[in-house]
Formats: sequence, structure tokens, C-alpha cells
Amino acid sequence: MDRFEWALSDQDLADAPAHTPEPVELADLQMLLAGAYAPLDGFMSRSDCAAVEQHGRLPDDGVWPPITLVVPDAAVRPEAKAVVLTDPEGAPVGALHIAERWPARKPGHSHLAGAVRAYGDGGLPFHRYRLSAAEARHQLQAGRVLGFYADRPLHRPQLAQLLHTARQLNAQIVLLVPVAEPGPDGLEQHALLRCVLAAADRLPDPLVVAIPLHRRGDQFADGALRARVAEAYGVTHLLSTAETIAGRGPRILVPRALAYDTRDGQWRDANDVNPRFARLPLTTDEIAQVLDDGETLPEWHTPPAVARELSKARPPRRQRGLVLFFTGLSGSGKSTVAHGVAEVLREEGERTITMLDGDIVRRELSRGLGFGREDRDLNIRRIGFVAAEVARHGGVAVACPIAPYAAARAGARALARTAGADFILVHVATPLDVCEKRDRKGLYAKARAGLIRGMTGIDDPYEAPTDAELTIDTSHGTVEDAVDLVLDYLVNGGWISLPEA
Ligand code: ADX
Repeated sequence: MDRFEWALSDQDLADAPAHTPEPVELADLQMLLAGAYAPLDGFMSRSDCAAVEQHGRLPDDGVWPPITLVVPDAAVRPEAKAVVLTDPEGAPVGALHIAERWPARKPGHSHLAGAVRAYGDGGLPFHRYRLSAAEARHQLQAGRVLGFYADRPLHRPQLAQLLHTARQLNAQIVLLVPVAEPGPDGLEQHALLRCVLAAADRLPDPLVVAIPLHRRGDQFADGALRARVAEAYGVTHLLSTAETIAGRGPRILVPRALAYDTRDGQWRDANDVNPRFARLPLTTDEIAQVLDDGETLPEWHTPPAVARELSKARPPRRQRGLVLFFTGLSGSGKSTVAHGVAEVLREEGERTITMLDGDIVRRELSRGLGFGREDRDLNIRRIGFVAAEVARHGGVAVACPIAPYAAARAGARALARTAGADFILVHVATPLDVCEKRDRKGLYAKARAGLIRGMTGIDDPYEAPTDAELTIDTSHGTVEDAVDLVLDYLVNGGWISLPEA
């Protein structure tokens, strides 16, 4: 592993350009600054990168995923000695002393390697629980330390597992809560931390640490990184189901399946409970279903304090924010159907509605944008952003742009999810020839006559969704029929309830 030196003056830093890295890179920076990737002290050198990309490991230090930083050359010129790295709000978090620079795969971009230092006061969230690896080790007593990645709330089976293992090992418990991104079930980080804290008083004096660890979407790399980070935080035994073959670091303990024994109310090894009296832990889907329906998680399964936090984080569907996103060709009827649905919801009066109609958005929010791919994507991004903010506060946002590109629609979905809201994509799949025959705005005729260019469906692409929750075709049946299909979907899923017609 290559080591770097930090040799920069205050003036060097004052002169350095600033750059906001990608979320994974920013998380890696914070992990490096916290000493969580020790012995790594900066973004990897070119030869280390090549080694981990080819072999998944460093010759002298076991399994590693690449810990790299890529910057646009326009933002960080080749002559720069350092770069200040900022969070998305532009507040500096750290600085990199550029020791090495080489071209990245992405044109016009370069890899940078070198030592990092904290810089600026980039107010970090989760301040009270953000311990560096050294601070955490300092708070632990000598002896065994049982670590656990709490990326989901702790229910009674996990608590029983932890208690049981800690007792067996005579170990202290460290709960590592990844806060760089929402949890694997989409639980927002603050909510996750509150859930973990609500469970923590059921354990003997655990140390709860919020760590900015970001998943890479590769089970193998994530498992290895988790083991390393746990080791840096003083963990000697890691309770984990994830693939973990760091080849060093804490001992990995695979949790055993537990069952609840209804005869005495104890959780024990599932094999030791008579199946007639056994209750198995609820699956993630079952838990989600209980919360969607607005029911309370049963006490045998979840401590009430945790259940309360969870139902705050994931309110029942009839109260939770919702983005209802219609996509389809011009003239497909999406706007008409969307307005029809919104009208019924308004009449019902249970929900607040924000209508983001394509043409109105282009007047109010996206004035001046054209119909090239970049402008269309930007338009959908703005719609997705506003819709997610509406839904964050429990509102219903109804949007009906053409939204021809799958990636932009996926972006809107992700924003809604991150806001703790649901996202329903309705594909209004009225065939082109029907849309063209309607041609209310005369645009198709103009496009056919070559008077306008880039008309969706004529000489511009429409990527039909493969992830739509609902597909409707307005060429047959009335507008009311189409509106009813959408309303039925919402009623069946529990988002709204309508009085019997
Ligand atoms: S999107 O592609 O960015 O989602 P949006 O829904 O906002 O498009 O705007 C589509 C509306 O703009 C159409 O209903 C139509 O009235 C008008 N329009 C003007 N030029 C075009 C074009 N080249 N392609 C599609 N729609 C166009």
C-alpha cells in the first residue's frame, strides 16, 4: 500500500480549487478522515488502484475495493497542488494533497491520489454519534468487542441475538450505524439512528457510532470493507450475515436463526422451540406491510419505543407522501387522466394535492428549457425534486410530463423514496397513431411536415417504461374509465379510501 505525505501550506489550501465529489467519494473522504479505513490515509495511488481493480486486493494488505476520487479537469486544473472537497451545499469537508494524477475512463476527468486532511467546518450531521475510530477505541475497555452493523432497526430477535452473543463472549457491544445513505430498506438515516437508539437501552451500555460508510453495490466489496472498518473501531467479533473474507480483522460470527417461544416469551435457537409454540421473526416485507396498513408492530416482536419510531418514519400509506407520476406521449391523455384523478382526491379532501402539469411546469419551473435530451432531463429533475419535497411533508404530487427517458424517471423515483414517500409510475400507453390522430395542439402535423424537429414519437425517442406500476391505454373507453383504473390502484394499495359509489 502506498503512503502519502501531507506537505501543504495554508496558502496552498487558500489557493486550491473546490470540488463537490460524488456521494460515495464524499463518504469515503469522511471515512478516511475518521481513520475508519486505516491504514489507508488517502485516496489510493495509481498502482494500488490497479491492484485492487485487477485482484480485488492489495499485495500486502488483503481485500480492498477501490477507494478513489475522480474530478473534472475543468474544475481541478492539472497544475493544482491541492483540492478542497465540499459537501453538496458547498461547505468544505476536507482537502486533498494531490500526489498523483492520471486520466480517468470518463473523458475530461482525472483520478487524483494523495493524503487527505479535515478542512473547514463542514457541519457534519449526526454530530453526537460521529466518533473517529480512535475516539471509539478510546471509549472501549480492554477485552472483547462485539460489533454489529445496524443498517436496519433492531427488533427483539436481533436484540436477543446480540445479548446472547455478548454474554457468551463476555464482550462489550458496538452498534455501527451507516449514515451516508438511506438503509437497504429505504429508511432515512436520521430515522434509522433514532430507531437504533430506541432499541439501545435494551442492551448493556452499547457504544452507538454513526459512520459515513456508503455501499458499493457489490456484496463482496461491501463485506470486506465492513470488516475492515469494524476492526478500525476496535471490534474483535463481528456478528454478520454478509459475505466477509477480508482475510484479517475481526472474527465473523454468523447469527443463528431464533424463534419466539410463546410458552415463556423467550427468543431462543429456532431448533430448540417446539414448532407448535414457535413464532418466527417478521420478514422485512411483513414489517413494511404492518406499517403500510397503519397497524402497530406486535410487542412480542418489537420493543414499543422502536415501533413508535418506525411508524413515524413510515406512516401508513393513507398519510404517507406520494408522487403519482404519469408518463406518455404528447396527446396520450396523461394530463386529462391526471387532472381527473387529482379532482377526485380534492373532492375527497383527505389529502393535499400539488399538480405538476407538463405545460404549466414549463411555464413556471422550467421556462426557457427546450426539448433536447439535456433540457428534458433537467425538466424532469426539477419536477422530481419539487414532487419529492411535496411528498416529504405528506402531500400528494401529481406530475404528468412526457418524461421520455427512463433514467430521468428513475431519478424522480429515487428522490421520492429518499424523501420517505412512495412513487407510482403510470404509463399512459396510448399508441402513437391515436395520439397523432387527436393532435390537439397540431404538433404532430407540424412534425410530419418537417416544420418542427425533435417531436417525441416522431423523430425523438420515447423509452417505454419497464417499471410502471400501472399501464393504461386511453384509446378505448372513456376518460372516467382510465381515472377509475388509477383510483382503484390507489384504493387497493391503501393510499386512499373512497366512499362506496
Ligand atoms: S418532457 O419531454 O420534458 O417531459 P414536457 O412534458 O415538459 O416534455 O412537455 C411536453 C409538451 O411540450 C407537449 O405536450 C407539447 O405540447 C410541447 N412540445 C413542444 N415541442 C415538443 C417536442 N419537440 N416534443 C414533445 N413535446 C413538445
